[in-house]
Amino acid sequence: MPPDARSKWSVRAPDLALLPLRGFLGLTFVFAGLQKLSDPNFFDSSAAGSIQTQLRSSERTSPIGSLLHGGSHFAVLLGVVIALAEVAVGVGALLGLWTRWAAAGGAALSAGFLLAVSWHTRPYYYGADVVFLFAWIPILIAGSGWYSLDRLLLERARRELRIPPLGPVSIDFGIVRRLCGAYDAGRCKQRGGAECAVAPCPVLAKHVELKPSVAAGVNRREFLLRARTVGGIGAGALVVTGATAVLGRLFAPTRHRSLVPTLNARGAPATTTPSSGSAPTSPPATTPTTAAPPAGTAIGSASAVPVGGAAAFNDPGNGEPAYVLQPSTGQYVAVNAVCTHAGCTVQYQSPHGLVCPCHGAEFDALTGAVLRGPAPTPLPMIPITVGADGRLYVQS
Ligand code: FES
Repeated sequence: MPPDARSKWSVRAPDLALLPLRGFLGLTFVFAGLQKLSDPNFFDSSAAGSIQTQLRSSERTSPIGSLLHGGSHFAVLLGVVIALAEVAVGVGALLGLWTRWAAAGGAALSAGFLLAVSWHTRPYYYGADVVFLFAWIPILIAGSGWYSLDRLLLERARRELRIPPLGPVSIDFGIVRRLCGAYDAGRCKQRGGAECAVAPCPVLAKHVELKPSVAAGVNRREFLLRARTVGGIGAGALVVTGATAVLGRLFAPTRHRSLVPTLNARGAPATTTPSSGSAPTSPPATTPTTAAPPAGTAIGSASAVPVGGAAAFNDPGNGEPAYVLQPSTGQYVAVNAVCTHAGCTVQYQSPHGLVCPCHGAEFDALTGAVLRGPAPTPLPMIPITVGADGRLYVQS
């Protein structure tokens, strides 16, 4: 590498070093926002991955559970705001436009996701949100640097006002010595004859301060240029996000709905929202069945559980959400529904799958086994029997 290319590289290296991070975070946040907007299931309260389901799941375990509960009353609006904010933050990071604000927004979103969803992830580094939060911080500190619209717009504002451009130039210190007028046989006349060195060099330490009125003019011009650019890019982004939302609704595949009946301890099902399994059947010949009421706590009527489907209940032992399935007539299996990754409530998907809406872990509902991470361990199974009275009993 020729010497001046090397010095140019070293001057720009700090700005270049942030480019991959800006690119990754920008693309990821734009993608995440567009994905939410294009996915009709994200706004469908009955879908496993919907914003409503995620809020309900997180409410129970998050340290900001009461805030999430409040947010659940306007979940669709919240979902749209989050998606648009992700797109805005991503575009800002990618283009280097209002970069520090974009980084602050990205860090705030990541902190919100961390508190709402990933707070209980163990070990903590399994959760992506904590990594995103810390990845935004270098950009927040350093700003956009050389390779950014921020920089281009500032230079344009200065050019329009005929003010010299800003920025470091790569210059050999030997040239500084020759030009400064204070160098004298290895000594610096400006520093009282002290040894000439780079760090205390008074020429390099000089800054050209603009008069306050000129600086205000530059700021005003730069702000107007930025506002015009943001307006143009924002309008384009709105068109793209709107088109993404429409196309998503036209072409997105319909997913299985996850709502299942909820058992009522007195016997009748409390809700009977259709699930993707088959309809409830008459009381089955079960295994095991006991003549006397079995030890344990009744959770509801066995007939409320569809054959080949599932019903939801709260485990009387610990109050946690759970599912009971009837894979074949008279056979019942119950499984805890708290994801072992970060504590979200998993959603039932026909015929015997459980999907976590938070980070996509999948489990086998009949065994609790992890089918897809990031969940580290299986879901606990719950011992269950059917009494002669046709009700299901959880053994404590
Ligand atoms: S909470 Fe992260 S996958 Fe379930």
